[in-house]
Amino acid sequence: MVGTMDLLTLLFLLLLNIVGICNGGVTSRYVRKAEPSVDMPLDAFPPPPGFNAPEQVHITQGDHDGRSVIVSWVTPDEKYPNVVTHWEANSKRKHKTHSIIKTYRYFNYSSGYIHHATIKRLKYDTKYFYQLGSGNATRRFHFTTPPKVGPDVPYTFGIIGDLGQTYDSNQTFEHYVSNPEGQAVLFVGDLSCADDHPQHDNRRWDSWGRFVEKSTAYQAWIWVPGNHELDYAPEIGENVPFKPYTHRYHVPYRASQSTCPLWYSIKRASAYIIVLSSYSAYGKYTPQYAWLEKELPKVNRAETPWLIVLLHSPWYNSNSYHYMEGESMRVAFESWFVQHKVDLVVAGHVHSYERTNRFSDVQYNITNRLSTPVKDPSAPVYLTIGDGGNIEGLADRFTEPQPSYSAYREASFGHAMLDIKNRTHAHFTWHRNHDNEAVVADSQWLFNRYWYPEEEHC
Ligand SMILES: [Fe+2]
Repeated sequence: MVGTMDLLTLLFLLLLNIVGICNGGVTSRYVRKAEPSVDMPLDAFPPPPGFNAPEQVHITQGDHDGRSVIVSWVTPDEKYPNVVTHWEANSKRKHKTHSIIKTYRYFNYSSGYIHHATIKRLKYDTKYFYQLGSGNATRRFHFTTPPKVGPDVPYTFGIIGDLGQTYDSNQTFEHYVSNPEGQAVLFVGDLSCADDHPQHDNRRWDSWGRFVEKSTAYQAWIWVPGNHELDYAPEIGENVPFKPYTHRYHVPYRASQSTCPLWYSIKRASAYIIVLSSYSAYGKYTPQYAWLEKELPKVNRAETPWLIVLLHSPWYNSNSYHYMEGESMRVAFESWFVQHKVDLVVAGHVHSYERTNRFSDVQYNITNRLSTPVKDPSAPVYLTIGDGGNIEGLADRFTEPQPSYSAYREASFGHAMLDIKNRTHAHFTWHRNHDNEAVVADSQWLFNRYWYPEEEHC
């Protein structure tokens, strides 16, 4: 039931969309909920029935081109069976792949057996079933591999960030799941937010794995490390950054010659996706810097026209929360992004939504005073989608006046969709939780920077 005030607000927003967005940006007054969100109970998503039943099932791309899938799951009591059986949807011929098994301890918590199995040499664009467990604890899932990489291959990504596990997170997640168009998810960091609980209660990593299984078991989620993945807590003897995250979430980093799972790249359909770590060293001579310097020139836009970078801490964001935390990484890498005509940079971290115009700030050389971002047709669009709904609540204090680089900003929870049509056009939409999934709160046609570097119109 939509109240009169809500209707008025919607009309107001509609008016803003019509008259405002072309004139230096819109700050939506639509703020649904500013107080901290409440975590769902630990047992909101109980383990599946059956002894040692596989749980927390998730899949991600397993190689550089999309012909492999990493299947990960947890068995709580025993190591075995450590095998995934898969078969083509239209075939009875079954194949078995064994997992590697990880365990870890964190303060007073001991993990279950964490399995990672890489299924290789799959066919493109094909539906597969896969099965885990045995006896009455057998569980069956399915996935569809991406189409063969190519310049005009359409593909639709969901975009979610900073999800956590509150009732708001659940609303964001259910909205995304209800959209039948999403084929894979770009997840821009901050998964379980277990570290918001005393001693980083790692049971919250398990509950998060069960919470999102409904999607992660069926389509690839592309992972990006956020600050809540650090779990660095020397006060309780936990000195190894990213310990729970790297044990639980495996990515195909070696396939892109990366030396660390926190930064890597994949090709999927017509997109080349580069994942960076905001919380690993990136200064000159560091492994991440050296990798990215070699990585960007490798991108063949005739094969993958859409060059997309995912990272956690935004470079362009006009919210008071976490303001300028991404600045030093911007200084390190922005000129490369402009030089290589990156189409889109997606970040999370700030718990609101913001989309920029194509601006850059690469002319500054310390003495020339040219330190203001300027319109730049070679610059990416920057998206901040930190609005998954985690326990810390909304970031609702925007800086005023709205900077010229900022096209649209709103403090609401939600998620986004990126619908790549062909080598020149992609349609981006943002969906706030308060509306039905089908309602688009903000949208933009994106023109490819390599094939069609025209200015996008409202
Ligand atoms: Fe964050």
